[in-house]
Amino acid sequence: MRRPIIAGNWKLNTCSESGPALVAALKAEVPAPSDKVEVVVCPPYPYLGLVAAAAAGSGVEVGGQNAWHETSGAFTGEVACEMLQDVGCKWVVLGHSERRQINGESDELINSKVRKALDVGLKVILCVGELLEDREGDRTEAVLKTQMTGGLVDVSAEQMAEVVIAYEPVWAIGTGKVASDEQAEEAHKFLRGWLEGRFNGDVAGATRILYGGSVKPDNANGLLGQPNVDGALVGGASLKAELFIPIIQAGVASVS
Ligand code: 13P
Repeated sequence: MRRPIIAGNWKLNTCSESGPALVAALKAEVPAPSDKVEVVVCPPYPYLGLVAAAAAGSGVEVGGQNAWHETSGAFTGEVACEMLQDVGCKWVVLGHSERRQINGESDELINSKVRKALDVGLKVILCVGELLEDREGDRTEAVLKTQMTGGLVDVSAEQMAEVVIAYEPVWAIGTGKVASDEQAEEAHKFLRGWLEGRFNGDVAGATRILYGGSVKPDNANGLLGQPNVDGALVGGASLKAELFIPIIQAGVASVS
């Protein structure tokens, strides 16, 4: 069984008060690590330490939204994987479409970050997903293949135990336009098949593939109920406990 992951990507939101307060509310739902669901929150860098302290000992784990692929040096504005670990992160999100689009991150750069994160022992949520024009031009699978191939260069089958894939169709992010259950399942199935070809059946069977893009309490059960959807990467709805908790519950329900 693949244990579902419900991850909240807080993006450029929250503050030193609201971040820990949000975690305090989530702890009521997951007071201790659970074998039914893994819950991860990804606050902005300045609040990681505070949020990690608030989450300590509970079933809420903490991740960075990005990282740099060098340990130290003249890289103004960057944050190292080791620094994320130092302040209590177990996870890092890499290759988010907002970083690909707004910051021009290439698959090559993302791959350097993936390998660095794995080298230091951080678990990776690698995001992939097509633009609306790709979907309309029937290029979804080609785009996913390129991003998976590029993002996972020189990553071994053993290392894949620490990698989670997040399928986030760009046209569904922050737009309220969610992928249908069938569209999500089709893309996830394609990604799992790709993992089998690139690695092996064991890796394909064990790798969690999350869906992201306008996940809300009212569509979470349908999406998470798909056989190849192993959780959610949630943006807007992760900022309110009353929206995020029902999504966590949908994750638990999807495997019970
Ligand atoms: P929304 O849930 O706000 O659409 O954001 C999804 C996302 O980008 C998560 O990484």
